[in-house]
Amino acid sequence: MTESPVAYESAGETGYISVDNPPVNSLSAAVRKGLVEAIDAFAADTTAKVAVLYCKGRTFIAGADISEFGKPMVEPYLPDVISRIENCAKPVIAVLHGTVLGGGLEVALGAHGRLAMPGTRVGLPEVTLGLMPGAGGSVRLPRLAGFAAAVDLITSGRQAGADEAVALGIIDGIPDAADPRAAGEAEARRWIAERRSPRQISGLPAPRPEEDEIKAARARVERSARGQIAPVRAFETLVAALGMPFTEAMAFERSAFLDLMQTPQRAALIHAFFAERKAVQQEGLKGIQPRAIAKVGIIGGGTMGQGIAAAVLNAGLDVTLIEQDEEAAARAAAGLAKMQQGAVKRGKLSPEACDQMLRDKFRTAVDYAALAEADLVIEAVFENMDVKQEVFRKLDAVCRPGAVLATNTSYLDVNAIAAVTSRPADVIGLHFFSPANIMRLLEIVVADKTAPEVTATAFALAKALGKTGVRSGVCDGFIGNRMMNTYRTAADHMVLDGASPYDIDRALVRFGFAMGPYQVGDLAGLDIGYAARQRKAASRDPRERVPVFADRLVEAGRLGRKTGRGYYIYDDETPQGRPDPELEALLTEVRAGQPGNAATFSDEEIVARYMAAMVNEGAKILEEGIAARPLDIDVVLLHGYGFPRWRGGPMHWADAEGLGAIAQNIARFAETDDFFWKVSPLLARLAAEGRTFETLNTGEGAS
Ligand code: NAI
Repeated sequence: MTESPVAYESAGETGYISVDNPPVNSLSAAVRKGLVEAIDAFAADTTAKVAVLYCKGRTFIAGADISEFGKPMVEPYLPDVISRIENCAKPVIAVLHGTVLGGGLEVALGAHGRLAMPGTRVGLPEVTLGLMPGAGGSVRLPRLAGFAAAVDLITSGRQAGADEAVALGIIDGIPDAADPRAAGEAEARRWIAERRSPRQISGLPAPRPEEDEIKAARARVERSARGQIAPVRAFETLVAALGMPFTEAMAFERSAFLDLMQTPQRAALIHAFFAERKAVQQEGLKGIQPRAIAKVGIIGGGTMGQGIAAAVLNAGLDVTLIEQDEEAAARAAAGLAKMQQGAVKRGKLSPEACDQMLRDKFRTAVDYAALAEADLVIEAVFENMDVKQEVFRKLDAVCRPGAVLATNTSYLDVNAIAAVTSRPADVIGLHFFSPANIMRLLEIVVADKTAPEVTATAFALAKALGKTGVRSGVCDGFIGNRMMNTYRTAADHMVLDGASPYDIDRALVRFGFAMGPYQVGDLAGLDIGYAARQRKAASRDPRERVPVFADRLVEAGRLGRKTGRGYYIYDDETPQGRPDPELEALLTEVRAGQPGNAATFSDEEIVARYMAAMVNEGAKILEEGIAARPLDIDVVLLHGYGFPRWRGGPMHWADAEGLGAIAQNIARFAETDDFFWKVSPLLARLAAEGRTFETLNTGEGAS
């Protein structure tokens, strides 16, 4: 028999219930069972007057055991475990540390007193997994912290720090003690001396918010939910339960929780959660030691160079930034300082840490000799092969052996960049996303000759920067931009055929994207796509359809937000943009002479085409081995391209939609355009075999 992860220890008048279930003390079936047994042991212990519930390791119970989700539930159920704690005739004090989330906080709410060690964070993040609290969180929290605080924490899923938790009444205090056990010992002594009896949250009256307050809160929740059902369901359940007796409220909450457990949104959000964790697990890199990185060189101090410098400095590393001349270097330093001051304003960085890193850890230079000591150099100069190759030749000449040489290119061939050096094994692509100090995605582009040790170093760097690394092979645009080009082209074709860019944006925002493709284009600047089209014009296949309307906008000086006008008009009145009444005339002119220019597209058709293009390109990327697993693609789209998390990523979405239906759609689209719409053989095969992309997720990535 395996030992229980929960122990009860009788120590005179105080009993200790300790949980030891590494790594995060999640509420597995064994922990639930152990808690019941420990409470029973405490109840039967005639000398103990107060029990202290605490956890060993790095955190109090961090939450449910997510791997049990979607499987049949095993007794004892969590709500019953918690009511056993709450109904204990003698007081139980929980002492929290680490991240006390979801079921962990619900267990603590079953106790009669709660202390939190400094640095503790509490929260009910169930909505971020498509769920809501299911073990009393939405019933007990409003009774303890009031309506507004409970709605805020439960519908946003955000975490509160110990100080805030004290202010909200969730926590009684922050002890000054060596560890949770010592804090509990002192508190228990106090309770015994004061002869305190258990205070049950279930016995507190439920708050009675005014109708207006409920209405305003509902509007806020619905607005920020943006298509997610869990926050709305959590809100409505919480509100309705306020008017019920405690036990009825508990049953009502549980049934809403179980309903949500069955939804595709829950499955998608859990998929996203695990995909992020698996993306960074690379079977082929097991046992390979990454190189140590302390000194980082960055070449080019433009938009990306500045953002990358900020990300690297924030991780505590040292940065030397090279620019073309002193003036450009000064501009880059000023831009970086402004960026870091923004982080200070947002409370992400202390003013002292900001000053210190800019003074002691950052310098600019114009001479590459300054990089002689660098462990890693990240190139972020203009997107031009000749310029980049010239930079890598210089790096090859000055950098020490063993330095990792990385390019932040968006599209260019990393093999061709590596080839100009005498050390292609040390060259890799590190494709950051803008703004690089904020976006979590890092595409790690492994070239033909990149050494596994260098790839391992890139994954370690991603982790040090707080980013999710995803491995990609070399191709035009790697995983993300290659897919984006394809689905943007599908959108452009619809515009050429009669759809309004505004309808396309609206349909995709309704689908759940943060922005539609034309809003994104305006934000990024329409000149970028224009330059790429110009570059490729000479080698373009004559069957390729050109979005002439996009070229016309740029030629008329309408570059998007930065010029106040692109697809939309941006001014003081509508800083977020409004449709331009003149656009339709331009489109009509461009469409004349195009085949099928009078087509109309329903929202459903717009989504079907956009998503089919995305999924089909994803399948080709898999087939070519550019991405090792469908989940890698999902993570790229989720973290780099605003794909709605509650849809799990494009490949997960495709599985839920049915690969057969998508393959049929592609065949239908190909009837009028068989140049653009060519079904990926992999997609066709999986569809024919009735399989899903998920069945390909078993691998652990390549080396
Ligand atoms: P940018 O034009 O803002 O900055 C480029 C900087 O490099 C300029 O400040 C320029 O003075 C400097 N530079 C040029 N040649 C140099 C040399 N030989 N030595 C030192 N400095 C030199 O460009 P941005 O947007 O920062 O892009 C840089 C790279 O990052 C490009 O390869 C781009 O494709 C890639 N990228 C851009 C993203 C974006 O959203 N802007 C996203 C991901 C990658």
